[in-house]
Amino acid sequence: MRIDSSLKSYPCTEEFRRWNAIFSVFALSLQCTCGEFLTLTLIKLNIFNKQRYTITSALPYANGPLHIGHLAGAYIPGDIFVRFLRLKGKDVVYVCGSDEHGAAITIKAKKEGVSPRDIIDRYNKQIKESFEQFGISFDIYHRTSEKIHHELSQEFFLNLYEKGEFIERFSEQYYDEEFHQFLADRYIVGTCPHCQNQGAYGDQCEKCGTSLNPTDLIDPRSTLSGKTPILKETKHWYLPLDKYQPWLETWLIEGKKDVLKPNVFGQCQSWLKLGLQPRSMTRDLDWGVDVPLEEAEGKKLYVWLDAPIGYISATKQWALEHNKDWRQYWQKQEDPNEDSTLIHFIGKDNIVFHCITFPAILHAHGGYILPENIPANEFLNLEGDKLSTSRNHAVWLHEYLDEFPAKQDELRYMLTSILPETSDSEFTWRDFQAKVNNELVSILGNFVNRVLVLSHKYFDGALAIGTPLSVADQDVLAELAKVPQAIEASLGQYRFREAQAHFMNAARLGNKYLADQEPWKVFKEDPERVKTVLYVAGQIVANLAVMGQPFLPFTSQKIFEMVKLPACGWERAGESDLLKSGHQLGETQLLFEKITDEQVDSQLVKLAAAAASTDASTIAPAKSNITFDDFTKLDIRVGTIVSAEKVAKTKKLLKLTIDTGIDQRTVVSGIAEFFTSEDIVGRQVSIIVNLEPRNIKGISSQGMILMAEDENGRLDFVRPDTTMSAGSTVR
Ligand code: MF3
Ligand code: ZN
Repeated sequence: MRIDSSLKSYPCTEEFRRWNAIFSVFALSLQCTCGEFLTLTLIKLNIFNKQRYTITSALPYANGPLHIGHLAGAYIPGDIFVRFLRLKGKDVVYVCGSDEHGAAITIKAKKEGVSPRDIIDRYNKQIKESFEQFGISFDIYHRTSEKIHHELSQEFFLNLYEKGEFIERFSEQYYDEEFHQFLADRYIVGTCPHCQNQGAYGDQCEKCGTSLNPTDLIDPRSTLSGKTPILKETKHWYLPLDKYQPWLETWLIEGKKDVLKPNVFGQCQSWLKLGLQPRSMTRDLDWGVDVPLEEAEGKKLYVWLDAPIGYISATKQWALEHNKDWRQYWQKQEDPNEDSTLIHFIGKDNIVFHCITFPAILHAHGGYILPENIPANEFLNLEGDKLSTSRNHAVWLHEYLDEFPAKQDELRYMLTSILPETSDSEFTWRDFQAKVNNELVSILGNFVNRVLVLSHKYFDGALAIGTPLSVADQDVLAELAKVPQAIEASLGQYRFREAQAHFMNAARLGNKYLADQEPWKVFKEDPERVKTVLYVAGQIVANLAVMGQPFLPFTSQKIFEMVKLPACGWERAGESDLLKSGHQLGETQLLFEKITDEQVDSQLVKLAAAAASTDASTIAPAKSNITFDDFTKLDIRVGTIVSAEKVAKTKKLLKLTIDTGIDQRTVVSGIAEFFTSEDIVGRQVSIIVNLEPRNIKGISSQGMILMAEDENGRLDFVRPDTTMSAGSTVR
């Protein structure tokens, strides 16, 4: 038998292209000994043909709240993908958690004068809540400060150490004499030797993505003192990436050139071209995972060694809690066909660590699977400018939800439609308004609403076939049946924007069908025909619920409730009788409402105000002088908080009962975002007791608690250092 290398050519019909997109078809002609040619079609099956999946989204640093750029980078794509896998009935674990080590955390703590522990506890909680609220459906949201994670990271380090993989090296490293600290990572900035970005960090230039060593930086400066550091000798353990370069070239460049997104592949290729260098895996820091060697006392693991291991430790913890075997999701199985498929969803600045460093570590350790793909996104910009935490040029998720309550799917939809999949993209509030009003409200919401309302109006919400299905009915159902495949083909190539557009096309199809059939006109003459039209339209509505699940989970759930259909998997997507003849629909609910011009304007004003306030000094200027007599008019006492409860229907207000020594009185205070009642009952505070009572939300507030507020809006009580008796005066 001889293999004929010429490929059989297929006519390039649309049908074939779609098929090809799903399956990546390769056809081979084989000649048998009898002389006959057999054409074999070898199908390199698509990404959805596996049984088990391990999906990760980058672990965000617990050093600040999340904004829309985070969602658009690693979390919305990951969540859509995972929801789809689950609908396909796959065995999937989706892990994430807070990245709680490294200079990102300690620098923030130093800035605020609090401990790193305070920072990670505060932001881990906030970040976790934001993810939950937006329906990012992790199976576990873990933390790298957990013991199980420290142990696993140390196990990895020791495994490589004992195999002699590390290079131990004494070298001169930058040191800040004023702060008595070695400077690595974010503690040192300078000019990137590759792209001349002046704000490159000691381990990476976030502009061009290249990984760096501090000594690569041109004109290095300490971020602690701002001064030029000196060099001082210290010992570290280096991962010889140069040694793994040939392996990486085979595994990544040769092995993945057809599957990696072009933006990811291009970056990897150019780094390998530059030539990889050994990278230190240890740090002279006092926050992080201890290096598990006696001679390395006081040293910590490099955060980019331990953080990706966080994916594994999160899976371990999840497995413990759910009676699963974590090894099935991370380690090579006896039969390679049973290996889990590992996919990392990340933002652009994480590519080097997920394509080069972490795979090299897994490879050096041995026994672990390697990522199948790393579909990294580029950056999202906001209103013509980069997103920036320090300049407060961002849309913060917790603030969005305050201002647009219960509009999670609106933001998900908007972000999915502008995901920076191949290049940077841009969020504007006008565009948000247009997408919500012209697409979600006018197309999807309007269609579903019309079908429900007409069905209730004409037939008391009962769906049934009246006259037999017409050609137009059969055509629209046939079109509908093609949508799931189109969505699947796009998702299989990590084209989330396109996949969501296919979904919206199903709603467009429905709208056009109603407009063509005009049931509201036909009803008088031919109610039986209208029955059928609404039956067909009802199938489209039910399909929108099924197919919308990966993209708009909250909306899908509402539609399922409205049509009284239990949520179902992808195998039913496209069916033309999801709702049987005789099915009774539920109540109509409003899916979306329009975003007003005022809402858009107020967001724009808010961004402009943020820009103005960060341009000026962040500390408010002093007020004008008052007389001593003015001051003595204030009656300030030490009081004790006796009880505290949230004021219903408010976010910020707590109703406090304070023992002022004089009496027990009620004070309403805007501190609920920072303190829970358990936090503060029993604490002492300073309270102005002779302030005119004020009516706040129907409660008479008799006094005011003194609070300190910093430039970031963080609040704390002003109170005596030691416990004083209630009623003591403050002068
Ligand atoms: N914390 C990192 C960042 O925000 C991402 C860590 S991803 C992981 O850029 F692989 F380390 F987990
Ligand atoms: Zn650079």
